[in-house]
Amino acid sequence: MKKFFAVFMALVLALSCMVIFTACGDTTDEKATDAATDAATDAGTTAPDEANKPVLKMGTNAYFQPYEFYEGEKIVGIDAEIAAAIAEELGMTLEIVDMEFDSILTAVNEGSVDFGMAGMTITDERLLEVDFSISYANGVQSIIVKNDSPITCADDLYAEGASYKVGVQLGTTGDIYATDDFGKENVTTYSNGNEAVLALLGGSVDCVIIDNEPAKALVAANEGLKILDTAYANEDYAICVKKGNTDLLTKINTAIKDLTKDGTIAAIVAKYIK
Ligand code: ARG
Repeated sequence: MKKFFAVFMALVLALSCMVIFTACGDTTDEKATDAATDAATDAGTTAPDEANKPVLKMGTNAYFQPYEFYEGEKIVGIDAEIAAAIAEELGMTLEIVDMEFDSILTAVNEGSVDFGMAGMTITDERLLEVDFSISYANGVQSIIVKNDSPITCADDLYAEGASYKVGVQLGTTGDIYATDDFGKENVTTYSNGNEAVLALLGGSVDCVIIDNEPAKALVAANEGLKILDTAYANEDYAICVKKGNTDLLTKINTAIKDLTKDGTIAAIVAKYIK
């Protein structure tokens, strides 16, 4: 009996420690970061209660700073943290799967991931394939050129007799718009923005069309580049789920609304976009 009591007391002690630990770690400010850290923590080192939670799989392309990018082995960024906060609200553990951008819709539809989140713009074409959540951020397509480029504004690309080579990330809206506007023969697709920018620096393309925040990050990381003042197109970013998965979509939308209302999303964005 004594022994039973001792074991019982040890359990109570362990449980109350856990409660204190959770209560301390769960202040609103830390919520997002903790969730993101949890999300990026691999299964082996996850806390026991985390391990029991169902997994929510996100498909992304992690070469899109500040939305998703690698910090060492870990995928961080605005999307990674918002997704982790959503997963937490759903009582789930986020797992991020990195893939080519143009594979995300297929992965969502095949069910190898539960949702796609990749600074992904809502477009009519994509709406035929997947369902989108309410928007959680806005993007603008920007044009990156070398400092000494003859291209000084977007109009230069359309000028009479102009024939510039455009670099884009495969399957992105930059790719779609540029192909529409300048023809497939003038557009070179790359696996990610970094590769497109290397091609620009190497002279194989004359400009790169990509979303504005990643454009800023790419220009900051590489000498001799600038972003043209003219914005190319305004866009809404949202999360996509398999067509007809209204259950998950409703949960995601509710979470986005809650996380907007309590300031979590604004705090995450402010952390990455100064
Ligand atoms: N907003 C653009 C689109 O939806 C580009 C997104 C690229 N995202 C990424 N994680 N690489 O097509």
